[in-house]
Amino acid sequence: MSGPVNEEDGRGEPWWAFGVLYQIYPRSFADTNADGMGDLPGIIEHLDHLEWLGVDGIWLSPVTRSPNADWGYDVSDFCSVQPDLGTMDDVDTLIAEAGRRGIRVLMDLVPNHTSDQHPWFLDARSSRDAAKRDWYVWADPKPDGSAPNNWVSSFGGPAWTPDATTGQSYLHNHLAEQPDLNWWNEEVRDAFDEIMRFWCDRGVAGFRIDVCNVIIKDAQLRDNPAATEEDDFEAQMFGQRAVYNTNRPEVHEVIRRWRSLVDAFEDPAVLLGETPVGVSELAAYYGSGHDELHLAFNFPFISAPFEAGALRAIVEQTEAALPPGAWPVWTGSNHDMFRFPTRWAGDDPRKARAALLMLMALRGTPVLYQGDEIGLGNTNLTHEDMRDPLGVRYWPYYEGRDAGRTPMPWSDAPGGGFTEPGVRPWLPLGDVHACNVDGQRSDPASVLTLTRALIALRRQEADLRRGDYRSLDAPEGVWAWSRGRRHFVVINMRDEPVALPDLDGTLWIGTGPSRGGEPVEGSLELGPWEGVIGARATSRSTAR
Ligand code: GLC
Ligand code: CA
Repeated sequence: MSGPVNEEDGRGEPWWAFGVLYQIYPRSFADTNADGMGDLPGIIEHLDHLEWLGVDGIWLSPVTRSPNADWGYDVSDFCSVQPDLGTMDDVDTLIAEAGRRGIRVLMDLVPNHTSDQHPWFLDARSSRDAAKRDWYVWADPKPDGSAPNNWVSSFGGPAWTPDATTGQSYLHNHLAEQPDLNWWNEEVRDAFDEIMRFWCDRGVAGFRIDVCNVIIKDAQLRDNPAATEEDDFEAQMFGQRAVYNTNRPEVHEVIRRWRSLVDAFEDPAVLLGETPVGVSELAAYYGSGHDELHLAFNFPFISAPFEAGALRAIVEQTEAALPPGAWPVWTGSNHDMFRFPTRWAGDDPRKARAALLMLMALRGTPVLYQGDEIGLGNTNLTHEDMRDPLGVRYWPYYEGRDAGRTPMPWSDAPGGGFTEPGVRPWLPLGDVHACNVDGQRSDPASVLTLTRALIALRRQEADLRRGDYRSLDAPEGVWAWSRGRRHFVVINMRDEPVALPDLDGTLWIGTGPSRGGEPVEGSLELGPWEGVIGARATSRSTAR
């Protein structure tokens, strides 16, 4: 069992371990210049909301310059700001204004690839002798003209695109507009050191690192083996096990380099990796002895069904797998995976409330996605609405990621408080009457009120911030755990009421009608999909 971070490295309570992070998808957060797209000034305008909510840090999906083949994840300049989102001055103002409210700002760093419009790639593709040729991954097609090897892009189709100018193909693990950098090249590593220093010097508090498990590929570009029946869904879908183009051992060397770079700053930046790997592989991304990622996103958790047994198993496995002092991170939604109030909760508010309580009460850093705090679900879209290249390309077999990227509903006014009345948002607003921030702020029974109370409780109770996680005995379909010496969490993930025997104490908070302050004497009764956090009268060991 791994202990709290602060006891291991003696650095006190790192803000990122005991706080709550919040992901902003800037283009859909708030539009201040009536062009239908969210922008940096829109984030600044809503910092009061985030402060009131109680979040400690915000992660911005990319605001760097991009031709938007993949909406910011195809970067054409890592050190400048995308004009329709704002200016570098706006970034400085955002960092300063957030800082005044005790909120830190994390940038999205995309080191695996650039845009095909990045000057580095324009140079690289110009000739075989170009200065930056080796900054990307080039290979000759096979004699029959087919791709250099069998690697498949994680967006589907071959991972290679032939380039007529030089007769070679370049590698791209995503769109053809996103050529992969060659992380074996020292100059590429140096260039990213500079990029990270640039942002750290501007005062950013950390980086969310895009697909950080895939950046380095097999140097010999060997073919991936065919998938077998035991392989996961993705391997089955692509027909191959991505052993030579993902999770290469050398990636850890690069992450260690980044970690020592950020650690050298007086206020070290936090590294939060996008690590879509199994629980057993996840541990490796934390390194040994605090030398890789501070936080590694847990994809088995976000991808699991909203069922007590499945989620509990993943949490237990994660707790067992992480090295001592490593800190888990829990999230239910992001800009790629859709919104959990629909995905997990099927738009049942009881389940969305239970999921929020779960995220806030596990041991680790919760990362909320904009809208989670109001229980915002996905928006139904048509093919014509699609802006995500994957939705455009694969509809109707795959509906793309836009249903979870639609604008934030701030109010029920025309434009939803996201944009001016009469302006067409870049993606449709959902039903702003059904769910919006203003309407929930003043409602004591709203999801927003619950989220804010959960965050406040976490801040108040040391057990909930840093106490150990231990599963407690519970009937099937009920997930119960203790945190630290006194706290317990019980979530009834069944359609029937349940009684949990052998519990004494006081409830702090519940997802149902207010149960705060209610005594528990011998047995706890919960309604269907009700969750509670409470504290025992005295500390006692009930570990399984
Ligand atoms: C990550 C991002 C996703 C993007 C992809 C390619 O998975 O979260 O939005 O499309 O990387 O950069
Ligand atoms: Ca705008």
